[in-house]
Amino acid sequence: MVRLDMSTGRYIAFEGAEGCGKSTHAARLAEAVGAVLTRETGGTAIGRRIREILHDTTVTDLSHRAEALLAAADRAQHIEEVVAPALAAGRHVVSDRTVYSTLAYQGYGRGLPLDDVRRINQWAVDGHWPELVLLLDAPTEVLERRMRGRQLDRFEQEDPGFHQRVRDGFRSMAAEEADRWVVIDGSADVDTVAATIRAAVRERMGL
Ligand code: TMP
Repeated sequence: MVRLDMSTGRYIAFEGAEGCGKSTHAARLAEAVGAVLTRETGGTAIGRRIREILHDTTVTDLSHRAEALLAAADRAQHIEEVVAPALAAGRHVVSDRTVYSTLAYQGYGRGLPLDDVRRINQWAVDGHWPELVLLLDAPTEVLERRMRGRQLDRFEQEDPGFHQRVRDGFRSMAAEEADRWVVIDGSADVDTVAATIRAAVRERMGL
């Protein structure tokens, strides 16, 4: 559901692969528009405990369905504790990842049926789908280069095929709902990306 009630805040998502610059740009945009800056997974105390399981490289036996449900549980808590109250109070919310990450990673990446993943998350978000999704997109080779030398978590250690499916998933969701998504070239330099994001948010939302 796209929320257009002007008395509530606006809900903006950043999505993209690891190393795309989401966190930097989410922080910059939140500052520029005076929004609450938050994240999934790990935007709440409960979410941080869930995130530990999801990222732990010693966790080798987590089923794909359990992984999807843990991400959805993090989200349900995050929406109820952080996102919904902020929007209701008239604050804008900028979130570093949202429900679309579960569709991309657990749906397209892990191969779980998209309709099931969508249905579970429909319940988890309780009507709060981001109004605008900024997808920072970059070729997987560029991202691999940026990640080199970093300690990799459980998702980052996945094979290149997984990361390609995630990227393709994000891009096809963006193409299917072009009025909700903006695809931004995340391989450009940081100030160029920030300026493009700022212009898109102004144009799409008047913020
Ligand atoms: P990040 O917070 O550093 O971007 O890392 C989050 C990791 O968790 C990233 O590899 C994507 C993954 N993830 C999912 O697989 N499903 C989800 O629903 C979310 C929010 C993240």
